Amino acid sequence: MNIAKRLERFDAYLGTAMNSILTKMKDEGKDVINLGLGDPDVFPTDEMRKALADACLSKENHHYPSFYSSMPLKEAIAGCYKKQFQVTCDPETEVTTLLGSADGLFHIHNCILDTGDIALVPDPCYPAYPASVTVAGGVIETVPLLAENGFLPDLDAIDPKTAERAKMIWVNYPNNPTAAHADGDFYKKLIAWAHKHNVVVISDNPYCKVCFDGYQAPSFLQFEGAKEIGIEFNSLSKSYNCCGWRIGMMLGNADIIAGIEKIKSHSDRGIFYPIQKAATAALNGPTDFMEERNDMYRERRDVVIKGLQKIGIDIDPPKATFYVWSPVPEGIKNSREWCFKVLDEIAVWMIPGSMYGKYGEGYFRIALTHPVDRLADAMDRLYQFVS
Ligand SMILES: Cc1ncc(COP(=O)(O)O)c(C=O)c1O
Repeated sequence: MNIAKRLERFDAYLGTAMNSILTKMKDEGKDVINLGLGDPDVFPTDEMRKALADACLSKENHHYPSFYSSMPLKEAIAGCYKKQFQVTCDPETEVTTLLGSADGLFHIHNCILDTGDIALVPDPCYPAYPASVTVAGGVIETVPLLAENGFLPDLDAIDPKTAERAKMIWVNYPNNPTAAHADGDFYKKLIAWAHKHNVVVISDNPYCKVCFDGYQAPSFLQFEGAKEIGIEFNSLSKSYNCCGWRIGMMLGNADIIAGIEKIKSHSDRGIFYPIQKAATAALNGPTDFMEERNDMYRERRDVVIKGLQKIGIDIDPPKATFYVWSPVPEGIKNSREWCFKVLDEIAVWMIPGSMYGKYGEGYFRIALTHPVDRLADAMDRLYQFVS
């Protein structure tokens, strides 16, 4: 079969292979705790599910959707950014909607990069960034995210010659997988650096509403000069507990928005109308459920942090995301081998840091998407395993 060589240059998404391994273990009767899952175990609110059900019952909502999203949805998105971040975006030209942010972050490279152009990609990172740079024919220059820099990119360490040639840089705070967060000083420095080198900033911000201990994540777009040099992806998936709905958005620079809309006018047929209607209702609706939900994640986070302390790993509790990024226990050299050994012996799956890039080696990621007692069980098993 004639299969393009580019497919050899990246791996399939790791979750797909793991799901079949874990399902097989469960079928064999093993009590597997999957701490790899970045999908909330909580649900969209009653109001959201009712809005979706009502919209599904209406006959006219089952046609091909218009490729252009409904204005009420785009206005609701712009309204949320205004309310949360005091960011003003024109719903017509500076907002577009996506089939989940994964949709946009895959296509963005076709919009920014020509063959051979450089993209600055953090390491470790969400695996779709490097994979989709490769599919678009771009060249990846790695930007290490190191513990000593709070897992933020060290912009001063990027060779100015590389910066001059680069077309784009990815940033993602609050971060998956490291759970690190970024403050205003970081974004201001990033924007000045991006203007100086004419590098487009792509900010991925799906965890901005999953924050604890009084912390509130900023948006890249709230800082001066951001809209002239970049865009931000966001999503209802984690904020509104509805990963399966596949509804995300992109806001910011109008030229990039127009570019992605042009690409998407060929690549898909828009978003199912009931999802658009329910998402509009959600974005215009109450958000008090998030406070309770975040308290729940914080309690789970504390159980995991305590469990890690018991096995000799002391880390600062993350202020955002539902992940804990932990160093592997002392003496372990290979996070992948260790995580698979843990899976094999105590049926707990945690994602090895090396699956997020070479600078992820030495770490593993735990998702807080299980009730407290289940997380406590996993941490007990881990304690028995390392003792
Ligand atoms: C950093 C990051 N970006 C994007 C996504 C994709 O989210 P969505 O459900 O909006 O496609 C995820 C999902 O886990 C993520 O962690």
